[in-house]
Amino acid sequence: MKSLALFSTLLLALFLSLFAACSDDSSSSPTGTGEAVESSVSQDGKNSATSSSATSKDETSSSSATSASKSRGKTLVAYFSRTGNTKPLAEYAAEYLDATLFEITAKIPYTDEDIAYYTDCRADREQKDESARPEIATVVKNMDEYDTVIIAHPIWHGIAPRIISTFLEGYDFSGKTLLTFCTSASSPLGQSAKLLQELTPNSTWLESKRFAIGTSREEIEEWLEDVLRP
Ligand SMILES: Cc1cc2nc3c(=O)[nH]c(=O)nc-3n(C[C@H](O)[C@H](O)[C@H](O)COP(=O)(O)O)c2cc1C
Repeated sequence: MKSLALFSTLLLALFLSLFAACSDDSSSSPTGTGEAVESSVSQDGKNSATSSSATSKDETSSSSATSASKSRGKTLVAYFSRTGNTKPLAEYAAEYLDATLFEITAKIPYTDEDIAYYTDCRADREQKDESARPEIATVVKNMDEYDTVIIAHPIWHGIAPRIISTFLEGYDFSGKTLLTFCTSASSPLGQSAKLLQELTPNSTWLESKRFAIGTSREEIEEWLEDVLRP
């Protein structure tokens, strides 16, 4: 009788420890997949996915992102964004491609007055002057390491801000793959990309694109998949 009681106690203890182990697993699991779920849900704005389908979407995204980024080597996403519209799009691109994100900032920062366009402000004057090259405060230390450089910028008076020309003339981009994209209130890409391409003729230029303000992460990812495909 005593041994039966001892056996039942042991059996109960074994059952309880097994149960505890299982519940530990399930509580650690959401933490482990939490980042993937969070990123894939935000990657897919229209998807109110459950955690499992969100995770599989994330896996799909990252595997295709890997194929695009792998085919283009180590990638830098450099952006200039004075009022913050271009910045999130550059971040989406860098995150998707597992690329380095670099902010191009002006040595003399653009104040609100400087960008009050059509008031003969600093930006107006720079854009009128083909030779204007506003100095950049930040430096890419290891540009040699990058195979692909994506440059994101706003449209200022129909073209890229002159600081983008400063950036393109500041490094040797020979042999690299270059790609630009921009945001604007309404203007199309126009001559913007062509003018930039003339500054670095020894690079391989991929087709640039203009995006509306507030473009989704998903749209940026789809475009990258398309444009970076070999
Ligand atoms: C000086 C200046 C000139 C601009 N010129 C144009 C233009 O020609 N066409 C247009 O559609 N938007 C123009 N815009 C609006 C910007 O392109 C748009 O707001 C852009 O998304 C800003 O990007 P950012 O917030 O990353 O700086 C201009 C903005 C500024 C400050």
